[in-house]
Amino acid sequence: MSTSRSISGSTSSGAIERFDDKARESFEHLGQTTVYRGELLRHPVYTRVVHWMVALFFFLALFTGFSIYLPWLFRWFTPFFGGGPLSRVMHPWFGLGFVVFFGLQALNWLQPMIWTAADSNWMRNMGKIVSGEAKMDPPDTGFFNAGQKLQFWEIVGGCIAYLITGIILWAGARTFGRIPVAISYVIHDISAVIMLGGIFIHIYQSTFGEPGTFQAMVRGAVSEAWAWTFHPAWYKQVTGRDPQQACEEARRQMTTSSKP
Ligand code: HEM
Repeated sequence: MSTSRSISGSTSSGAIERFDDKARESFEHLGQTTVYRGELLRHPVYTRVVHWMVALFFFLALFTGFSIYLPWLFRWFTPFFGGGPLSRVMHPWFGLGFVVFFGLQALNWLQPMIWTAADSNWMRNMGKIVSGEAKMDPPDTGFFNAGQKLQFWEIVGGCIAYLITGIILWAGARTFGRIPVAISYVIHDISAVIMLGGIFIHIYQSTFGEPGTFQAMVRGAVSEAWAWTFHPAWYKQVTGRDPQQACEEARRQMTTSSKP
């Protein structure tokens, strides 16, 4: 079954939602999202294309940035970018690409990333969730959980910091003076370290940490079991079924079908 349904939970009221809906509609013609029986649509083609462009430009900016920051350690990969001086020239452009694509993603995800009471509840239960003591996320966990939202807003803050400090560093001391440039270096680098730490956690969570998540950004669909385990309120919203009941039903079916 092929589908072009937009992210559930977004209402077409404001200019941003209309822009996102139009972008999702036109991108759906360029790719395909197949949702099999027992699966749910998670991310349409537009969201996936923008996410992977964000990731591409993030790593291009990161690697060229490393070779400027620590050339004695990272100069071995400057040849990939045409040498040290060209890496220096390319870095701000890669950074700009990252900020522009993340800007599009931020508009796309603005509505589902708004903090709610369910997120404060998730934070209170974080210990049990992260340690695996809780088998399912709290029942009120929606499309994104609090951890994902915190990371999203950290990247929004990081992008603003990169943009301001990056422009100051790009134009240099002749335009902005030595002190703003010196301060910008510190903020730019601290932001990079924070974001890098967050991305390690993000990649782990999206692959091994929560199995079944990676396909959400590759094929665009997730299993119903994934949805009721990690995002029960979203599961209920899109299927109308109770996540706990659905899980118990699936467990019963598995035990009866495995009996000889
Ligand atoms: C190889 C690297 C990456 C992998 C494997 C990956 C994977 C994923 C997956 C599977 C999702 C969907 C999660 C869901 O639907 O619940 C996602 C969402 C997201 N990705 Fe990535 N991603 C990568 C790199 C990046 C980078 C570099 C950024 C930004 C700097 C980024 C930012 C986000 C954000 C903000 C979300 C939504 C919130 C979240 O799930 O944390 N990703 N990613």
